[in-house]
Amino acid sequence: MKPNFRVAFLTLLSVSLAVPAIAQQSGEATYKAKCAMCHGADGTGNTPIGKNMKLRSLKSPEDIKATDADLFKQTKDGVGKMQGYASKLTDAQINDVVAYIRTLQK
Ligand code: HEC
Repeated sequence: MKPNFRVAFLTLLSVSLAVPAIAQQSGEATYKAKCAMCHGADGTGNTPIGKNMKLRSLKSPEDIKATDADLFKQTKDGVGKMQGYASKLTDAQINDVVAYIRTLQK
C-alpha cells in the first residue's frame, strides 16, 4: 500500500467509524445495488449468478478473518472473475460497503 493511500484509507476508515449509522445505511444501499445480484442479499452467494460463478460466501471463515483492508482491496481492484470497482465506487463507498459486509458476517 502506498503511504498516501494508507493515510487516505485510515482517514476514511475513521470517518466511517465515527458515523456508523450513516455509513451502514449507504453501505447497505451500495451492497444491494451493486453486489447482492451475485453475492446475495445475505452475502452467502446463493444466487443464480453466484452459483454459476462458484462464489464463496462472504461469511466464510476466510472472509471473516480477512482484514477490512483486504476486503477493501479485493472490492476496489477486483479478484479472480470479479472486476474491480475502482472506477465505479469511491473509496468512501467501498469502506461503507465493507462495513456493511461485516454486519452480514455477525
Ligand atoms: C458479477 C458478479 C459479482 C458482483 C456484482 C460482485 N462480485 Fe464480488 N466476487 C465475485 C466473484 C466471482 C468472486 C470470486 C472471485 C474468485 O475468487 O474467482 C468475488 C469475490 C469477492 C470478494 C473476495 C472474497 C471472496 O469471498 O471471494 C469480495 C470482498 C467481494 N467479492 C466483494 C464484492 C463487493 C463489495 C461487491 C459490490 C460492490 C461485489 N463483490 C460485487 C462476483 C461478483
